[in-house]
Amino acid sequence: LTQFIIEEQRRFSGATGEFTLLLNDVVTACKKIANQVNKGALLGTMGSLASENVQGEVQKELDVITNDIFISSLEWSGHLAGMASEEMEAPYDIPGHYPTGKYLILFDPLDGSSNVNINISVGTIFSILRAPEGVTQPKVDDFLQPGTRQVCAGYALYGSSTMFVLTTGHGVNGFTLDREVGEFYLTHPNMTIPEDTHEFAVNTSNQRHWEAPVQRYVEECLQGKEGPRSRDFNMRWVASMVAEVHRILIRGGLFMYPLDSKLKDQGGKLRLLYEANPMSFIVEQAGGA
Ligand code: AHG
Ligand code: MN
Ligand code: MN
Repeated sequence: LTQFIIEEQRRFSGATGEFTLLLNDVVTACKKIANQVNKGALLGTMGSLASENVQGEVQKELDVITNDIFISSLEWSGHLAGMASEEMEAPYDIPGHYPTGKYLILFDPLDGSSNVNINISVGTIFSILRAPEGVTQPKVDDFLQPGTRQVCAGYALYGSSTMFVLTTGHGVNGFTLDREVGEFYLTHPNMTIPEDTHEFAVNTSNQRHWEAPVQRYVEECLQGKEGPRSRDFNMRWVASMVAEVHRILIRGGLFMYPLDSKLKDQGGKLRLLYEANPMSFIVEQAGGA
């Protein structure tokens, strides 16, 4: 992965290497998180906390631990102007005794964390933006940039193997962690979503709360061969978007978390900056929509 990132950097004559170093720190953070997650119940950190995050979700112990890992792996580096996380109410200011840089990072440290104590795949999602020109102490508004401005997005998937999937806007590449060596190796070059699919992923327990067009679409899929789509579909729901999107990158399909009447006030379940923007960038770069 290090070689891949450096070779990518060489394609840009003006590159200073700052971005390469930042990505290396992200990779290190993900390796540390992989280590924590993989130890499972041995560390006694599988429980829930009394606290809720700003989205009103009960925080898992590991949500907070992995958030701290991400911050401590990156705050010192000098490449970041600021950080923002799904698990923190406000952007994280880089402490004054560290230098700052031109990038912003937004992350979900442990996506799918409701799955940690049942040993099902979880992941880390990140999105990198440029800080607005001249901004060294970014405020909330500086993070609120459209997804099309992302410089880079990626995720680490802590599944039966640990993977790191990355785009900088030139396709999508996937790497698998060799634990003994401690390095990610390029195992999935130029990932492209298969065009043909029989699979969709949606939490149908919310069906009665969806808007009418979504209800109708899923209903038509469920009718299978006898319905208007004239084919049988298969369904998956892991409750970890990273695992879901990864499956789609490998074998195609549809993932959705449609707006439902319970979620209307908060604008939907998935968070635009920490989840939907980075995953959308990756999916588009892999030929999806
Ligand atoms: P998080 O663990 O970061 O809160 O996100 C979980 C998200 C997403 O990964 C997943 O697809 C969805 O929430 C699961 O929602 P349900 O529990 O409603 O199925
Ligand atoms: Mn999440
Ligand atoms: Mn999360």
